[in-house]
Amino acid sequence: MCGIVAYIGPREAYPIVLKGLKRLEYRGYDSSGVALLNKGLKVYKKKGKVAELEDSLIGKDLHANTGMGHTRWATHGEPSDRNAHPHTSANGKLAMIHNGIIENYTQLKQELTKKGYKFHSDTDTEVLLNFIQDIQEHNECGLEEALRIALKRVVGAYVIILLDHDNPDTIIAARKGSPLVIGVGKGEHFLASDASPIIEYTKEVVYVNDYELAIIKADELVLKNLGNEKLTPFIQKLDLELAAIEKGGYDHFMLKEIFEQPATIFDCLRGRLDVAAGTITMAGVQKNIEKLTSANRIVMVACGTSWHAGLVAEYVFEELCRIPVEVEYASEFRYRNPVVREGDVIFAISQSGETADTIVAIEKAKENGAFIFGVVNVVGSSIARVSHAGAYTHAGPEIGVASTKAFTAQLAVLIMIALKIAWEKGTIDQQRYNHLLQELHEIPEKVAEALRHDDEIKRIANKYKDAQDFLYLGRGYNFPIALEGALKMKEISYIHAEGYPAAEMKHGPIALVDKDLPVVFVATKDSYHEKIISNIQEIKARKGMVLAVISEGDETITGMADDIMIVPEADELVAPLLSVIPMQLLSYHVGIAKNLDVDKPRNLAKSVTVE
Ligand code: F6R
Repeated sequence: MCGIVAYIGPREAYPIVLKGLKRLEYRGYDSSGVALLNKGLKVYKKKGKVAELEDSLIGKDLHANTGMGHTRWATHGEPSDRNAHPHTSANGKLAMIHNGIIENYTQLKQELTKKGYKFHSDTDTEVLLNFIQDIQEHNECGLEEALRIALKRVVGAYVIILLDHDNPDTIIAARKGSPLVIGVGKGEHFLASDASPIIEYTKEVVYVNDYELAIIKADELVLKNLGNEKLTPFIQKLDLELAAIEKGGYDHFMLKEIFEQPATIFDCLRGRLDVAAGTITMAGVQKNIEKLTSANRIVMVACGTSWHAGLVAEYVFEELCRIPVEVEYASEFRYRNPVVREGDVIFAISQSGETADTIVAIEKAKENGAFIFGVVNVVGSSIARVSHAGAYTHAGPEIGVASTKAFTAQLAVLIMIALKIAWEKGTIDQQRYNHLLQELHEIPEKVAEALRHDDEIKRIANKYKDAQDFLYLGRGYNFPIALEGALKMKEISYIHAEGYPAAEMKHGPIALVDKDLPVVFVATKDSYHEKIISNIQEIKARKGMVLAVISEGDETITGMADDIMIVPEADELVAPLLSVIPMQLLSYHVGIAKNLDVDKPRNLAKSVTVE
């Protein structure tokens, strides 16, 4: 949430910062701004997307070798020019960008107001910046020392980057709870929320840890902790290609990522699943197999789409491993007083690995003795680091704000883990085990087959694009897919959509059904098939419109539904990997038909690093 980028070195800073902001725009796009440090400190900012900032800067003198930029997802203060970052300190000497929330900013603001400070924005960022200035003046110390003192009083999460008019050859940055990557070039440094603005310049990066400060010059990177002790920067090689973060000929990242799924699922299975040998090889699982097989219970902790992956995993783990499973919204779990004990295994599921609620939830569970297993996409992210062990989903960078390929990769990883545990525990027989390995192995090709129905789904999207509401229904393994379909429709098309277990419909939502309500049934062939056919009839009897996701060759539902979306037949345990594909495409095409920005839906941001 919020994208930050900075550069120091011999090149022109502005083009690098601007390009970086465009790459990071998925993290927030309410407003954006840049600060450039040449002979003086210049700050430009604008409400709206980065392109609007860019237009507003045409013709300005943007020459500088040090600069930083920010693209915002508003927390404190409405999206506006004045709340946009960078903020400038009261004495005009410091500029700061910030990703995160300063929770005790009200108290700090009161203290500063008493001292005569005036504020020009509603942000917590401006408060922190003036707090730093105040410490600097009061203690007659340098910026680095003032920042260290300030951060000891700050409650909350942050990545901050500071430019100082009096020290034009230095950038100072600090991190707690939000991501910061430093790219190390030859005589130059790059800073960003993720590696995407950096990879075309250098592949050598340092991931800054919590409670660390970075003092950066063109040719020097000094890392320190808050106790002013020097740390050795751990330089890592980025395993990321530029093509992975570009649209590659697709109109939108979302569509590219939907169509990448045969490859991303294949990558996720590669080297892990060996059908011929009948094995699943996952180092994080193997090393901790005792803990996993002897778990008293498993708790899936996640948010949003990742929570839906946790719900599918609940069905899979209970079926295969016979271990009780609970699925928790991280935001609820962390604030309750949940009973967590030794012997509990917590699966933290997250694409970004930076979701604030999930991080805190697992930190709490860890304190209570639980074993934390991360299922994360972004390598080196906070959740990956906080977890005791884990398995990466290897879906590659997901840039479209709505999660698509990360979800199917999460499902593939979770199913493999469940199969491995079940096999080791002896809760699955050889025949079913081999059958499911084969079924998983076939998924990438079957996803490719499901995607071949894109044109048909586009036609259906155009037919229903003006609906006011959608109801999504599913049973068993497909119930979470109904929830996921509804979430995709809401976020991409701004159409109200509700997901429900199909049998629950009779306990309330059926009252909504009339001739204008499209009801999407996720009804692939599984052990609930006869039951869901009855549910479809109940909707048809009330003149509802039925759109059904069905297995290829399902004549019964084809004869009943108004429209059908076909996926290849598969074992019900892996079927969600297929039935979600039409759900993703439907929301995408409705969004496009309504002329919406599907990659950057309003009010949203990827990577929710605030509570
Ligand atoms: C929906 C979506 C969100 C995320 C949620 C969790 O399309 O993208 O609901 O799934 O914010 O994010 P991660 O997986 O990064 O923890």
